Amino acid sequence: MNHEAMTVALGDRSYDIFFGREIRSLFQEWICRFYPGGTVHVVTDRNVASIYGDDIPQWLAGIPHDVLALPPGEERKNFDTVREIYGFLARGDAGRDSLVVAFGGGVVGDLAGFAAATYLRGISCIQVPTTLLAQVDSSVGGKTGFNLPEGKNLVGAFHQPRAVFIDDAFLLTLDDRNLRAGMAEVVKCALAGDAELWDRLLAAGGKWKSLSGEEWRWVVRRAVGFKASVVERDEMETSLRRILNLGHTIGHAMEKSGGYGRLLHGEAVAMGLAWEAILGMKLGVTGVELVDGLVPLLIDMGFPLDDPGVALTSIAAAIGMDKKRMVSDVDLPLIAAPGRCELLRVPLAEIRRELPGIRAEIRERSIARELNIPEGNAIPEESPVSNLVHVGNEVYEIRSAEESVVPAEAVPGIGQEQAAVEPESERAERPGATEPSPPPSEIPAAPVVRTVTLADLYWSQGERSTARRIVGEILRDDPANLRAQAWLAARTGDDLAEAGLLGFLETMAKEYGYDLS
Ligand code: GLY
Repeated sequence: MNHEAMTVALGDRSYDIFFGREIRSLFQEWICRFYPGGTVHVVTDRNVASIYGDDIPQWLAGIPHDVLALPPGEERKNFDTVREIYGFLARGDAGRDSLVVAFGGGVVGDLAGFAAATYLRGISCIQVPTTLLAQVDSSVGGKTGFNLPEGKNLVGAFHQPRAVFIDDAFLLTLDDRNLRAGMAEVVKCALAGDAELWDRLLAAGGKWKSLSGEEWRWVVRRAVGFKASVVERDEMETSLRRILNLGHTIGHAMEKSGGYGRLLHGEAVAMGLAWEAILGMKLGVTGVELVDGLVPLLIDMGFPLDDPGVALTSIAAAIGMDKKRMVSDVDLPLIAAPGRCELLRVPLAEIRRELPGIRAEIRERSIARELNIPEGNAIPEESPVSNLVHVGNEVYEIRSAEESVVPAEAVPGIGQEQAAVEPESERAERPGATEPSPPPSEIPAAPVVRTVTLADLYWSQGERSTARRIVGEILRDDPANLRAQAWLAARTGDDLAEAGLLGFLETMAKEYGYDLS
């Protein structure tokens, strides 16, 4: 099985994102090595538990654990539910060295992450995202929190996970609506910083569900790679990371004014992307060709781009309550070209003023699409490859996700657990459905994945030779790897100090007749 790892480089908060099919054994290996002993506290929700109820014990096979299944849904992403998690951790005797596993979608990840960030002033958490939205967005980057009646995610903390395990087998059992909702965040990543991903999405159009397993994995990795590179440059969202709010200013307002739970987050983001693109056009930032490509793409993907049940006045009021509000202005990310985003400070009053015109245009374009009236220049010949993001006077180049992917190497002896086999009926039309999981007897051994972050973890546990071997092997395969070079350079000092100390002890021992062994 071809597992891969991508590192989010954040100094001592760095962590690896592992990708692959059936990465359960890698997950088990990771926990056993880095959190030996003690109970692992698994937080999930009842929907996930009803689908993966049998899987969770298999994921945690051989690892002492307890499980809390929360009531599902965005409407339960509140403080009462956080308190439920605190109670669960307290009853389970969680300590500072305990590990929380967030096993589920975005709501579970945010709530479990927040509880981990605050319980005993912070304990470790790892993310096992089971929805597309959680895989490409919420499990990466360390944003955790919950909603207040006054607004979405108004209370939260940055708390980076210790690792993320993205298994695309979870997408096989995801219903169409949730799968589509995740695609909204993929489209966002493409628009904000990955022109190649944008071209791929446009090429797939309404046939996105028929992407092959390999293409699907590429799409997920690109979206995650983009997000990781943004988080690395601006973990705390003081500048660049705000571009990840593309589509979210109006999207959050749609979600809130419709009542949490009515729209899925991704559905609201799809609306927000379309509405904000038209706003960008009205503000002279976004070209009409981009809107001509985006609106039909979202419609063909199956997104409604308007919620007729929500009055413009409610949307306008909800925009004012967004936590990204800056007194009377908002820093709004707008698309200048595919893969190129600009952050513009816009008065809220101006956004509100434009809402009727935006809604009228969305409705007109939706009807045109339904009647199959072609858009102007719907798909440009070739998008400029311009993964440059402008934030104020700063210009950031977003690294290619491919560069950050480290393929893994198979070694025998790890991860022989039986895989859960999904019902055939659930597989139809799911990403990667053309590549069913092999029967249990053929499941290959989990790979050893080598990353500098893993080397750090081994080092922190006193396993220095393993750490050195990992970094040595990374440099053998990729001598230009800057993180590995820096790691080695930093440790060379330690080695010299150690050698010096040993030499001194040996001299003293010889002089005074001690036995050093
Ligand atoms: N979901 C936006 C962010 O993580 O910054």
